[in-house]
Amino acid sequence: MHLPAFLYFLPIVVFLGAGCQPTAKKKNEVIDYSTEAMDVMVAECAICHGTQEAQRGPILNGMEHWYLSDQINKFRSGIRGARPSNRSEHLMGVGVRKVSNDFQVAYLANWYSEQTPLPAIRTISGDIQKGKELYTRRCASCHGPKGEGNRQLLSPSLSKLEGWYYMDQMRKFRSGERGYDYRDEGGQAMSAISKDLSDFDLRNLIAYSIDSFGLEEALPISDDLVPAGSKKPF
Ligand code: HEC
Ligand code: HEC
Repeated sequence: MHLPAFLYFLPIVVFLGAGCQPTAKKKNEVIDYSTEAMDVMVAECAICHGTQEAQRGPILNGMEHWYLSDQINKFRSGIRGARPSNRSEHLMGVGVRKVSNDFQVAYLANWYSEQTPLPAIRTISGDIQKGKELYTRRCASCHGPKGEGNRQLLSPSLSKLEGWYYMDQMRKFRSGERGYDYRDEGGQAMSAISKDLSDFDLRNLIAYSIDSFGLEEALPISDDLVPAGSKKPF
């Protein structure tokens, strides 16, 4: 027996139609401005941004608030952190999903900028003299002669970076894993600038930066301070 053709399609039409029904009212977000709510959020960031985790993100203490809020917003919009191939960045892309409004961005950026920088173990060695020469020629115009940064040029200070993270990011800029989005003006500039730098150049640059204006040195207690997944540069 032949059924009318439309009957074959009916279940599909009903199924698709059901998907279009307003199943739930659009959530009306209630912003909780309390310090308690923000403490909970800071604790969630600390899961990855403290020194304890083996698979962690960078220590953010003392970074500039404008740079922190810029970056959090880049993660929110997918300008950074949207590529699963860039594993650590993608992790942060997931981490940022809790942040849903500008108040939280400003609070978190400000909170981290006010924390005391922590000493870091020196994981990168290199030729400091060569690093200085390269830094002066290639980096100082934007990041400042003492790595102090220049907000007008969107260039962050480089004085709060742990060596492993510094190396990691330079390699990502060089390969285009960071700075891939055409809307990412700063990231694209950095990506272009690092294209011709060898690993030797990077080691020299980083050894010089940390020696000259970097974080205070911490004595290595264990290997835990370098995340297990990161390419160990030594
Ligand atoms: C699941 C782990 C995870 C969570 C949770 C997380 N992050 Fe991250 N975050 C990372 C990783 C990993 C990176 C480094 C990304 C990369 O390699 O480029 C990062 C990078 C960042 C950066 C960029 C720093 C720089 O120097 O460019 C900022 C800012 C940041 N996170 C802020 C936060 C804040 C604020 C929170 C809490 C709302 C948070 N993160 C939660 C893992 C996480
Ligand atoms: C034309 C200006 C310019 C020059 C020259 C430049 N940078 Fe940058 N740099 C930037 C900008 C802008 C950013 C911010 C990128 C972003 O928003 O993601 C940045 C970001 C960085 C970061 C990321 C910091 C973090 O917390 O993740 C590092 C590391 C860095 N630069 C190192 C260097 C080094 C080393 C040199 C020299 C080889 C250099 N830069 C030369 C503009 C510059």
